[in-house]
Amino acid sequence: MKRVIRPVVNGAVREVLVDPRQTLMEVLRDGLLLTGTKEGCSNGNCGACTVHLNGGPVVSCLVLAMEADGAEVVTVEGLAQGPRLTPLQQAFIEHGAFECGFCTSGMVMIASALLARNPHPTEAEVRRAIAGNLCRCTGYDKIVRATLAVGER
Ligand code: FES
Ligand code: FES
Repeated sequence: MKRVIRPVVNGAVREVLVDPRQTLMEVLRDGLLLTGTKEGCSNGNCGACTVHLNGGPVVSCLVLAMEADGAEVVTVEGLAQGPRLTPLQQAFIEHGAFECGFCTSGMVMIASALLARNPHPTEAEVRRAIAGNLCRCTGYDKIVRATLAVGER
């Protein structure tokens, strides 16, 4: 039976009618039109759908929407303040840390979660943090360098 949930998405309470089988990823993309959260594998293997749930990173294709009732959800759309990008988003641009861009929002969300709990990560810590996020294009080095650059500032 469908139920109304009220997650706080990017700082605003949203009211959404969801099916118990719907994932958070589906509700974000299809219900709230926050399509910055990407659908890659839909089974927890690629990280493209990474968002923050109550301050920590999750793959939103493995979270039921109902689990987000009353929770704080941040998507890539919630990082920048208007036209002002975060230092990490800016560093991705400066280091050319994307090509096709499909993985980029998930990478930015996982790397920003790392920087929030560890503002000066080592290269090994960055590589460990993004290990579950797949990129077919960049070879990862530019993503790692962009993340390290923010930690070094
Ligand atoms: S779409 Fe969620 S991990 Fe791939
Ligand atoms: S930039 Fe294409 S998948 Fe990462």
